[in-house]
Amino acid sequence: MILEYAKSLKPCTGSDKTKIATVVGARPQFIKCAPVSRLIRECHQEIIIHTGQHYDEEMSDIFFKELGIPKPEYNLGVGSGTHGEQTAKMLVRIEYVLIKEQPDIVMVYGDTNSTVAGALAAAKLNIPLAHVEAGLRSFDRTMPEEINRIVTDHLSITNFSPTYAAVTNLKNEGITGNVFLVGDTTTDAMIMMMPIVWRSDILNRLNLAKKQYCVMTLHRPSNTDTKDVLSTILNTISGVSNLPIIFPCHPRTRESIFRNGLIVPANIIVVPPMGYTDMLCLMKHAYRIFTDSGGMQKEAYNLGTPCITLRDTTEWPETVNTGWNTLAGTDPDQIKKAFDRDTPFDQITLYDTGASRRIVEILNGMNGDAI
Ligand code: UD1
Repeated sequence: MILEYAKSLKPCTGSDKTKIATVVGARPQFIKCAPVSRLIRECHQEIIIHTGQHYDEEMSDIFFKELGIPKPEYNLGVGSGTHGEQTAKMLVRIEYVLIKEQPDIVMVYGDTNSTVAGALAAAKLNIPLAHVEAGLRSFDRTMPEEINRIVTDHLSITNFSPTYAAVTNLKNEGITGNVFLVGDTTTDAMIMMMPIVWRSDILNRLNLAKKQYCVMTLHRPSNTDTKDVLSTILNTISGVSNLPIIFPCHPRTRESIFRNGLIVPANIIVVPPMGYTDMLCLMKHAYRIFTDSGGMQKEAYNLGTPCITLRDTTEWPETVNTGWNTLAGTDPDQIKKAFDRDTPFDQITLYDTGASRRIVEILNGMNGDAI
């Protein structure tokens, strides 16, 4: 069925309006849904349900403002908690909204607890579920996100995948019907934001020159929650880079640094979490990026900045195969080797753009009842 949709496409008319409930809750999902929501609203009715998983101004509101995402119709105010507690609260509250709103389709994005909660709520109510960014796998079930991905893909009636590798992963798990290779909606978001990114003054504000600094982000529990691991990472990166390292610090990591009484080395400059525009600008002009984020590996690649991933696995193998990304884990020698590695890398082929339009065209073709 991959890309077969083209044959059945039809433009949306007023009478075709499908009621789509979009469930989001964490920072990367706001980016993933922005270009899709924009197109959905051209001809369908969308209600955005924000679980409240991320709630700080700089973790949530700024993304809605910058990306022009409409104010959510519902904010469930779930907040933080253990995985079970957080997911359970979301499930109860999303179910309540879905029963009230009776949407034709529920759309979920990515791999967070908000994703799996939206998926479970929809599946239990027999509402067709569509998953954007389906089929990604790290093959590491100690990652909470891997569990969320697997469950969501298996519950979805329609899976929208960003890459061939993702489609193959689904096939290997027996998911072959209604799998659409559409491309990557975060690449759409990045392109949509580029005209504004060029105007960002973040380099001036931080007193930085192009390619004369590095960027680091850290938020995986496996890297941040244990004192020794976090301390080793901070000291290693401080030691390998002769350039300043800008560190937009996730609240989880900030809390762990304080709780464990860690001293951040002087060449690591801790700043608050950043909005999308400033972050893209900062990444574009960095010499190297250190990260344990999934999405940033791909953004670094799309922007042409070499990335050193502080994990042993990736959901974006293309970035590694082309030489732009190195999986260094948390081993100091590997991190140093990756930092010192010379270019050239393979030519960049942007992750497929146009994913958002393809997704909405498929939804148009389905008319809400064909999936
Ligand atoms: C979540 C996702 C992860 C995603 C990341 C992006 C899951 C399992 N993980 O991880 O896949 O890459 O978002 O950031 O869903 N906190 C605040 N303010 C906020 C949000 C969180 O202070 O607005 C703090 C809280 O102390 C919370 C901690 O950060 O306990 C972690 O937040 P949580 O939403 O549980 O997971 P993330 O680590 O953000």
